[in-house]
Amino acid sequence: MSARIPVAILGATGSVGQRFVQLLAQHPWFEVVALTGSGRSVGQSYAAAAHWVIAEEMPAWAREMTLVASDPAACPARIVFSALPSAIAQEVEPRFAQAGALVCSNAAAFREAADVPLLLPEVNPTHTAVVARQRQQRGWPGAIVTNPNCTSTGLTVALKALYDAFGLQAVFVTSLQAVSGAGYPGVASLDILDNVIPYIDGEEAKVEWEPRKLLGTVGPQGIAAADFRISAHTNRVAVSDGHLVCVSVKLGRPASVAEAAAALRDYAAPAVCAELPSCPRPVIRLRAEPDRPQPRLDRTTGRGMTTVVGRLRPDPLFDLKFVVFSHNTIRGAAGGSILNAELLVKQGLLAGEGR
Ligand SMILES: NC(=O)c1ccc[n+]([C@@H]2O[C@H](COP(=O)([O-])OP(=O)(O)OC[C@H]3O[C@@H](n4cnc5c(N)ncnc54)[C@H](OP(=O)(O)O)[C@@H]3O)[C@@H](O)[C@H]2O)c1
Repeated sequence: MSARIPVAILGATGSVGQRFVQLLAQHPWFEVVALTGSGRSVGQSYAAAAHWVIAEEMPAWAREMTLVASDPAACPARIVFSALPSAIAQEVEPRFAQAGALVCSNAAAFREAADVPLLLPEVNPTHTAVVARQRQQRGWPGAIVTNPNCTSTGLTVALKALYDAFGLQAVFVTSLQAVSGAGYPGVASLDILDNVIPYIDGEEAKVEWEPRKLLGTVGPQGIAAADFRISAHTNRVAVSDGHLVCVSVKLGRPASVAEAAAALRDYAAPAVCAELPSCPRPVIRLRAEPDRPQPRLDRTTGRGMTTVVGRLRPDPLFDLKFVVFSHNTIRGAAGGSILNAELLVKQGLLAGEGR
């Protein structure tokens, strides 16, 4: 790619926005031309407005950028990465799509719409077929494409490998989710230290339907959800980054632990993902140790893009049980949106590219 594509980050000062800044610092295809914040931050330098919480240094180019409003007129970008709160995204993202931008969103606002892809390129790259329908129905030259909730993400990657090999009937999950998933400043330290909070607003509903849309099929009415059931318990724990999910599955047809291990270990991303810079390599890392995955030890696997699975064993109530780990602000948010944008570029879906 000769010239890099101009991109903007909406909500660049937050937990996910900072990850975008870090991950896009050296991106071979994309160049950040605008950073946005709320009225609290607009007009300030990024260094002044962002309370930087990532261990790596804030990139020098970002420090001096002046935050602008989340408005297409202020952001001359062909791709827009959205890390906005959902209620704000509901208003703002359509304006960018109307102005011709490809919006790659972390927000929940449009995830349920049948003409909006909920996308994990290593799972369902063909779901971008609904972008044409979205453009036609909504009359905008751009598009909105979403990535799933951070807990649904790693879970769905693991389920995809099993679903393809054996089918699925029922899934029961309990999550242990990091505090960075609540944004910045997120959960108060006095609430979370020495504690587990067994409630995350709206989370269980998302985890119970998003994997079914992701594993669904594209039809004339948009995307039809896959036909299996999920029950979820979601919990906030005192971990900085990375969500663990304990999973029990009832398969469509019986499979041994060895067969399931092979399906997980050998799961490969569809060919279209091969040259995407952010594609996880490997997609799934299957660990054999009895006490892995763990957030502190496994969060950097595959630069935070690989889904780590361990503790695969028989389940006395269902068929199999295992533990999934995924980095919530990388694979589950900013890294996931960047991978989505790479796929859309590869598929020729930028506005004005004729599909
Ligand atoms: N954290 C995760 O692991 C995760 C994972 C997947 C998806 N998500 C989703 O990603 C989105 C961002 O989450 P987060 O955790 O990064 O939240 P956050 O830390 O609270 O950051 C929110 C960002 O939105 C900006 N903002 C707030 N109100 C605004 C307004 N009225 N107009 C324009 N900008 C506004 C803030 O700017 P100021 O700082 O200038 O106020 C900040 O940059 C949410 O929709 C969330 O559900 C998060």
